[in-house]
Amino acid sequence: MTDLAARFRKLWDSLAPVGRDADSGGYLRYALTEPERWLRAWFRDQADQRGMPVQEDGNGNLFAWWGDPAAGDAVLTGSHFDSVPHGGAYDGPLGIVSAFLAVDELRAAGFTPARPLAVGAFVEEEGARFGVPCLGSRLLTGEIAVERAAELRDAAGVSFADALGDRPAGADPVLLGRFAAFVELHVEQGRALVEQDAPVAVASAIWPHGRWRFDFQGEGNHAGTTRMADRRDPMLTYAFTVLAANKEARLRDAHATVARVAVEPNATNAIPSRVTGWLDARAAEPQTLHGLVEAVRAKAAERARRDGTELTLTEESATPLVAFDGGLAKRLATLLDAPVLPTGAGHDAGVLAAHLPTAMLFVRNPTGVSHSPAEAATDADCAAGVTALARVLEELTCR
Ligand code: GLV
Ligand code: MN
Ligand code: MN
Repeated sequence: MTDLAARFRKLWDSLAPVGRDADSGGYLRYALTEPERWLRAWFRDQADQRGMPVQEDGNGNLFAWWGDPAAGDAVLTGSHFDSVPHGGAYDGPLGIVSAFLAVDELRAAGFTPARPLAVGAFVEEEGARFGVPCLGSRLLTGEIAVERAAELRDAAGVSFADALGDRPAGADPVLLGRFAAFVELHVEQGRALVEQDAPVAVASAIWPHGRWRFDFQGEGNHAGTTRMADRRDPMLTYAFTVLAANKEARLRDAHATVARVAVEPNATNAIPSRVTGWLDARAAEPQTLHGLVEAVRAKAAERARRDGTELTLTEESATPLVAFDGGLAKRLATLLDAPVLPTGAGHDAGVLAAHLPTAMLFVRNPTGVSHSPAEAATDADCAAGVTALARVLEELTCR
């Protein structure tokens, strides 16, 4: 094991047990819950050890500074700590651990940046607790209204404002204006790097994607006494809609997933009164995504008519196509001699890309699996990621 891989392993092990579920081996690190708060304290401690003052932006995002923030033209790197339910270890934390190690690498090489460098940790990237992904970066950039964000609620009814301990501050043009570039390092969420036999890639684009809530209202009734012909069963409309989403996505070479469902009253012997399903839909082109969601909506509405149920459709979040700064991606790919890949996964980098030059680095994932405990990366590839990130940060801050 190289020295850097060993240092990666040591730092990685310092947070690896936090929020891990003993049964699944996956992580339950929801934003602003105890495990994620522990990780935020870990962030402050790591920053402190490196003499990097930490700034919290009033939205729950943390920034650790090397250099004077007021000098401007800073380069930001980092990612998020929060996970999906029973998610993998690397999605998010890899970008933060790698950022601190890249700072160590630059310092060990005697490098002094000509402009400030910041390590960031964005809050609620997955949207697993409050429903809207990239909530922290959307707030910072003003992409979501403070009123809406403050009132987003988790499954227990706790609002984002209450979890944060205050009303979110919202858009911060002064802080945002201090950054000249953002680079997010992330575990790859597919198998492209395994197939291309490369440890690190540069991102070209993020597919447009979003979340749509389908509420199907029917009539709760007795499972034993209600004749089949008399039922208004929203479970049927829901089930049909799930199949329709799958079919419509396949027809378009797009992605549609219904992985979250809520049933009322959720009793074995009661016809449900209401079923809610969340559609996650993604496609390479915005018009394909629009066509997909519209086709699913139309099929669900038609089925609701036949079932005697009512459909209400709500768009909970939408992220447009992100084409990362082409010049920057090319420059970094040349610097690192790395392949360039698009992705269907969302990231804070996708939100920030509309506001400043932004790039992403991906680190090979031998299983290709993500949002699952099977997500993986070798220490050697993580070390290669740190080396690549350090080179990129040096290139972007050397003048
Ligand atoms: C975030 O990881 C997403 O793509 O949903
Ligand atoms: Mn994720
Ligand atoms: Mn992520």
